[in-house]
Amino acid sequence: MDPGLLVSDLLDTNAMTALIVCKDGSVKYINKTYLDILGKKEEAVVGKYIGDITPETRTLISLMTGKAIVGYNWSVNGYNMIACSLPLIKNGEIVACFAYSLFLDIWDAKDLVNNLMSELNMYKDEVHHLYSARHDFAEIIGQARNIQDVKFLAQKAALHPSITVLVTGESGTGKELFAHAIHKASSRSRMPFIRVNCAAIPENLLEAELFGYEEGAFTGSRKGGSPGKFELANGGTIFLDEIGEMSLSMQSKLLVFLQEKEFERLGSHHPIRVNVRVIAATNRNLKEMITQQKFREDLYYRLNVLNLDIPPLRERIQDIPLLASYLIPKLNRELNTCVTSMSDEALDIFCKYDWPGNIRELTNVLQRAMILADMENYLTITAKQLVFMKNHNETKDDSSSKTLRSLIRDYEKQILAKVLEETDYNKSKTANILDIDLSSLYKKVKQYGLTPENF
Ligand SMILES: Nc1ncnc2c1ncn2[C@@H]1O[C@H](COP(=O)(O)OP(=O)(O)OP(=O)(O)O)[C@@H](O)[C@H]1O
Ligand SMILES: [Mg+2]
Repeated sequence: MDPGLLVSDLLDTNAMTALIVCKDGSVKYINKTYLDILGKKEEAVVGKYIGDITPETRTLISLMTGKAIVGYNWSVNGYNMIACSLPLIKNGEIVACFAYSLFLDIWDAKDLVNNLMSELNMYKDEVHHLYSARHDFAEIIGQARNIQDVKFLAQKAALHPSITVLVTGESGTGKELFAHAIHKASSRSRMPFIRVNCAAIPENLLEAELFGYEEGAFTGSRKGGSPGKFELANGGTIFLDEIGEMSLSMQSKLLVFLQEKEFERLGSHHPIRVNVRVIAATNRNLKEMITQQKFREDLYYRLNVLNLDIPPLRERIQDIPLLASYLIPKLNRELNTCVTSMSDEALDIFCKYDWPGNIRELTNVLQRAMILADMENYLTITAKQLVFMKNHNETKDDSSSKTLRSLIRDYEKQILAKVLEETDYNKSKTANILDIDLSSLYKKVKQYGLTPENF
């Protein structure tokens, strides 16, 4: 195909104006669209000096300087265009200038920008929602002295927006709830609240996740690099959940950040300073981990500026009726059920139970009981809907006819099933609670057939 024909075909479009001006300023080529806008015939333009046709032309500047002029506002006969003038260079010499318009009408550009802006605002809202605290102190239910004391301390922490807080407590006691509430009640509330689950991110990725990276910092790194969670949280709060699972080498890097308040992105030597409040949480006994050399003592003291130790539910059983009456209407909305209350007998079962999974377990048990009650058209949860709980509390005594090994196996299976249920079948949490390796948990789950379908 004739290459000349292809270029003129390309340029002869009504979507843009196109003009080629020779080094001496004479017009070499002009497309039909531009001729129509100028209101001229081809022979009145081609071969003529461009300065005589459009005196304000930038093509002459491009020819003189050899520099491209990109994206300027160009108005001709009522058409508001965005145009570009590009010098054409051959063997180091300026030979011509090519000028074209990006938009025939600036309103097209404005529409595009407006569309992009509304899209951008939508994403900003989304990110704000994703990176904002969703719970406040009003959602932390409890009249018992021990929880009231912790709540009081947490409200004080909210008033000091730079204090580092360490939230400890058993699984399901409300550690995350407290972190949200502190951020929301603090002067940082309009800024991001960013949660990082240190247990869920593989060790080799956690550093990049927290501190970000530069382009090319590692294979597979994103073009242009990426900010880390510390940068994203600037002005706000970073919630380092399950801090007890952080590797020792990552603990050292975190310690440096807490001391210096600055860090470098992976693959960069440029320090970045941020202003973030750190709230860390764990259900592990960090002091014990220090003695086992699994947690750095210096980091522990840096994090433990203020400790909120949330009491387990069994140490505040007087709150159980209150929690039930708070959770029942909430769960009714989620489950589309219409349960109104609990019988005295059912409440008694609740108060006598140990609640190793704390409020999360209480919520799950209530959910199950409410579904059962609803299926049987009960408005009140009675002992009948809690039979599955009683089974957990009672261990059948048929030991006389069994060998020690099979008794131990039965007991192990029972414990595993119980903890898996309490953690919503979360294997890493289960392994954690029982203090066994994840790999041996997988083995046992398989051995005892404790697959989710069997629950
Ligand atoms: N005092 C409370 N009042 C009402 N609901 C609560 C309270 N504490 C916890 N919850 C609810 O219990 C559930 C578990 O809470 P949360 O996730 O904060 O616990 P956690 O301590 O972070 O648990 P884990 O150690 O398993 O991560 C959530 O649904 C939370 O809303
Ligand atoms: Mg949590």
